[in-house]
Amino acid sequence: MRPTTSELPIGAIIISARSADDCLAHFSLAEADLLRGPVLDCPGGASDFAVRVRALGGRAVSVDPAYDVPPERFAERLRADLERVRAWTSTRPDRFPQGPDGRWHRLPSWEHAAETFMADYRRDRDEATGHYVSALLPSLPFADRTFALATSGFLLFTYPDHFDPAFHLGALRELLRVADEVRVHPLNDSARSPYPHIAPLLEALRADGVHADMLAVESPTDRGDTHTLRLRRPAAPADCT
Ligand SMILES: C[S@@+](CC[C@H](N)C(=O)[O-])C[C@H]1O[C@@H](n2cnc3c(N)ncnc32)[C@H](O)[C@@H]1O
Repeated sequence: MRPTTSELPIGAIIISARSADDCLAHFSLAEADLLRGPVLDCPGGASDFAVRVRALGGRAVSVDPAYDVPPERFAERLRADLERVRAWTSTRPDRFPQGPDGRWHRLPSWEHAAETFMADYRRDRDEATGHYVSALLPSLPFADRTFALATSGFLLFTYPDHFDPAFHLGALRELLRVADEVRVHPLNDSARSPYPHIAPLLEALRADGVHADMLAVESPTDRGDTHTLRLRRPAAPADCT
């Protein structure tokens, strides 16, 4: 059973738009980490994290099932979801402090990230850059070890009503199939309840030979999101020479 808090989770999965700076902070990454090899951001949502990776000279692909629509429809859904975030945070002012405009003070940075994302998403649809791929965990359309790093923010453990432990394990194994290292944040749901099945999940991954550790982080979005899971898969036999 899920440990309870006085809060309720946010409900249906939203498309959020965390900024690249927020992602670097909550995944405990430095810009240099983004240049070790190709980066997968899954789910990408409307974050401009992958745009930043490319601006730095790196390679990045964002994956999200919401990328199955043209930019105008994506923008419509994004507007509605950001309005849900505004309404949800406005009823929790102690946790999400209000800015001078009476809205959650982080919303302007999300709107700025969303604008950067939308410009890049439109360009992708015009020029077929391949930077935005519509797909669903736990099944990704990439060859083994395509990426040096995969980041997964605000999906797996955030929505307790949508995914079960078998999904979490399958999704993490899939991310580890395509990437050498996987970082997942946060480790609690949107009501701040910690993921209750973390011990058996890590036990199963360690039995696969995966190295797992927890990084203490300071989230710019929510002080309650204090940890990031870092997973590194075992080297392939050819690497052991
Ligand atoms: C809260 S957003 C997180 C986006 C981004 N990482 C951020 O922090 O702003 C969650 C995203 O997960 C996507 N999503 C839902 N189910 C998914 C699945 N099975 N596999 C991958 N992405 C999924 C949704 O479309 C949504 O855009």
